[in-house]
Amino acid sequence: MKIIMLGAPGAGKGTQAKRIAEKYAIPHISTGDIFRANIKNNTELGQKAKTYMDKGELVPDELVVDLIMDRFKEADCANGYVLDGFPRTIPQAEALDKALSANNESVDFAINVEVPDENIINRMSGRRACVGCGATYHIQFNPTKVEGICDACGEKLILRDDDKPETVKNRLSVYHDQTQPLIDYYSKKGILAEVDGTQSMEDVFNSIVNVLGK
Ligand code: AP5
Repeated sequence: MKIIMLGAPGAGKGTQAKRIAEKYAIPHISTGDIFRANIKNNTELGQKAKTYMDKGELVPDELVVDLIMDRFKEADCANGYVLDGFPRTIPQAEALDKALSANNESVDFAINVEVPDENIINRMSGRRACVGCGATYHIQFNPTKVEGICDACGEKLILRDDDKPETVKNRLSVYHDQTQPLIDYYSKKGILAEVDGTQSMEDVFNSIVNVLGK
């Protein structure tokens, strides 16, 4: 099964993609996580990506497309994947379609997790990310057992640089300009499912399972 998660920054794509990956035994591929791992390891790709990410801008399409095409070659992608944060522009979606159709394949579901802009700033300012394993929490909606410490690996939690309100505002504007048109793109292909992302995390997940099937 090949699934795309759509939605504004902070809509809950990553939270849900992790659970989808677990339930359907497919890898969770997050371009944001791949970039953050490269930044942490100070790779050339990480250095390039950081200049865009810190401003809330998108990393250029050619860098992202090459990266994702390489990731698809790995063995764990044989039965599909859940894509979180890719595609993010029409050219990225077209590159994905082209690569899949060369193997007579296509995307099965594009799930749009809908959350209004006014909820996003609160979500982002309360998000905390683990510096060790990348797990994400929310100080109000999904707190850790011990404040500031990751439940999964015991490392410390931080506020992502791009989760500061000014950068979030720019990310939202970039989302509306460049990523939101994908909703129409996948709707025209007949594979779009809309899910209300303002529900509890559990209810959002149940709505997604209703779309994907048990
Ligand atoms: P990326 O990491 O993909 O960021 P994003 O799309 O902005 O999404 P987020 O990870 O911020 O949010 P999310 O929707 O996953 O929400 P989450 O589940 O964490 O990308 C970062 C940057 O990398 C981009 O700005 C760009 O520069 C670059 N990039 C990445 N991919 C790219 C591409 N394809 N092309 C070009 N550039 C690219 O949830 C958010 C918070 O809310 C959490 O604290 C969570 O606990 C909480 N929460 C989740 N669900 C609920 C709920 N139902 N109720 C209450 N709280 C909830």
